[in-house]
Amino acid sequence: MSTDHSRIRSWHEHRSAYQASLDDPGSFWAAQAERFKWHRKWDEVLEWDFEGPQVKWFSGGRLNITENCLDRHLDDRGRSTAIIWEPNDPKEKALRLTYHELHERVCRYANMLKRNGVTKGDRVCVYMPMVPDLLIAVLACARIGAVHSVVFCGFSAQSLADRINDASAKVVLCSDGMFRGAKEMPVKSVVDEALSHCACVERVLVTRRVGWDVAMDPARDRWAHDELAEVNVFCEAEVMDSEDPLFILYTSGSTGKPKGVVHTCGGYMVYADYSFRNVFQYDPGQVFWCTADVGWITGHSYMAYGPLLAGATQVMFEGVPTWPDPSRFWQIVDKHRVNIFYTAPTAIRSLMACGLDPVLDHDLHSLKVLGTVGEPINEEAWHWYKDHIGKGRCPIVDTWWQTETGGIMISSLAGVTDERPGHAAYPLPGIQPVLLTPEGEEITENEVEGLLCIRFPWPSMLRTTWGDHERCRQTYFSAFKGMYFTGDGARRDADGRYRIIGRVDDVINVSGHRFGTAEIESAINEAKGVVESAVVGYPHEIKGQGIYAYVITEGPVSDPEEMRGRVLEAVTAGIGKIARPDKIQLVSGLPKTRSGKIMRRILRKIAEGELDKLGDTSTLLDPTVVDEIKGGRL
Ligand code: WTA
Repeated sequence: MSTDHSRIRSWHEHRSAYQASLDDPGSFWAAQAERFKWHRKWDEVLEWDFEGPQVKWFSGGRLNITENCLDRHLDDRGRSTAIIWEPNDPKEKALRLTYHELHERVCRYANMLKRNGVTKGDRVCVYMPMVPDLLIAVLACARIGAVHSVVFCGFSAQSLADRINDASAKVVLCSDGMFRGAKEMPVKSVVDEALSHCACVERVLVTRRVGWDVAMDPARDRWAHDELAEVNVFCEAEVMDSEDPLFILYTSGSTGKPKGVVHTCGGYMVYADYSFRNVFQYDPGQVFWCTADVGWITGHSYMAYGPLLAGATQVMFEGVPTWPDPSRFWQIVDKHRVNIFYTAPTAIRSLMACGLDPVLDHDLHSLKVLGTVGEPINEEAWHWYKDHIGKGRCPIVDTWWQTETGGIMISSLAGVTDERPGHAAYPLPGIQPVLLTPEGEEITENEVEGLLCIRFPWPSMLRTTWGDHERCRQTYFSAFKGMYFTGDGARRDADGRYRIIGRVDDVINVSGHRFGTAEIESAINEAKGVVESAVVGYPHEIKGQGIYAYVITEGPVSDPEEMRGRVLEAVTAGIGKIARPDKIQLVSGLPKTRSGKIMRRILRKIAEGELDKLGDTSTLLDPTVVDEIKGGRL
């Protein structure tokens, strides 16, 4: 048994690590931090106050996370594979990079950034498909102390521009285009469109992927391969303060525009590694595959950082699960002998719908551990995953966490703690969840449901929201005094396991991707002829939640399909295709209180088809509107 609790291998060790983390959090996390290379050791493990909020981990400590992801492994594992990149098209050859090669490519890329004017503290926006350069670019930023802000390639030019401007990014890293299943899609031209609204960007560096002849602005744009030919392979890592920002990642909340969640270097590093090794029970030599895109937090913590910190070998996949056919995931597991597979319930459900033939064609015996993330998993999908992918012998970890938490917070540890379908189960050592009533009373007993909060800091928690600390305080720390509020509701069973119920705020989780209802409504309202709209989530068989939009138009609509098309286009332009409503109901009014507030509860019930559970509607400004909406339900 490890006395520093760095690797938990039994239920007993889990209990004792958890207790140790409560008794003396400082010593507990100092022991975890000792594993890394520091240029200067920290003065204090933790200083905190949730009022500000002001949270510092390992303050005074100095480090570079990429030295810990790469250089630290060169002696022992320099020649072992860090990345197995599997391209979109199975006919194209996979690319393997050893730790040595990845180190070299990151250093070169970092030198290219320097050559193009990037210095410590500058913000760099990364808008790239899942090609090796995406991962290399992220690490290269961290190498020189630039703050990366990765924007998922499915976001529109408008959302990209908003994020570039919010962070005042100086440089954008992108590709010419991208492959996605059978399609080729533009990337550089989306950047060009975005940049017509951004004055801050001085340089765009373009990776060639599709081979298109894209427009290049001679004053602003450069091909990455030309620039990389000019730089050398050695790049000293910038020594960062523990609390210097490492990255910004934009995420949606219930109000306004997406906010830039800020993570810092030291604490994030310690927790990404700790949670990765323990949740997945990763052993050296195993092949790990997280299917998430680096554009989301899962791809940051469990592709770009966690596995590399642990010296792991991992798969990075460019394509989609259903192309050329729905066996693509299982074919990759078979081909690269994947041991640990981490994906989203929505992917499991969509593959489950394709039947068993695609699964049975492949040898899945290499699998040892399965994981899920992003949304609650329904029991049917859980059992299918367990029986048909894991063949009944692989533990499943259902990992609950958030962009803001930086790492997995509540999850069973593979094969170490027990599992129950639909239950994320137990908090990791160091994580102190509480359930509260809406009035803020703590619920201490079990077999209860409440609002999920965290009462004590953990190393990878968000520190602020970029450029607006007050928004961070308001959003996460003001609802309940002395607590971080997650926005989720949860249930605790008789044994203390947590089951996440879902968001209690106006956030919709579509296929594991977060959107604020306000964000979608403001995009819809841009469509010509739209007066007002209200958006709610409803249960969707594959996506978990679907988007149901109620739209008020200017006067009667002669061609409803054309109007719906306009709404879809407006959402595609404002946010991206991923946020397009599944259902659009054109209405003449919305249920509002006398003070003008939209009663979303009623709209949600109608969308869910629970027409007899609308509650009292007599206090509405115009109760008759409810009958009309019920009558026109899609
Ligand atoms: C939801 C993703 C149930 C939850 C890492 C949370 C989950 C939001 C689970 C964060 C899970 C994430 N079970 N729900 N295992 N994991 N969620 O920021 O509502 O994209 O608040 O981070 O996803 O989404 P985000």
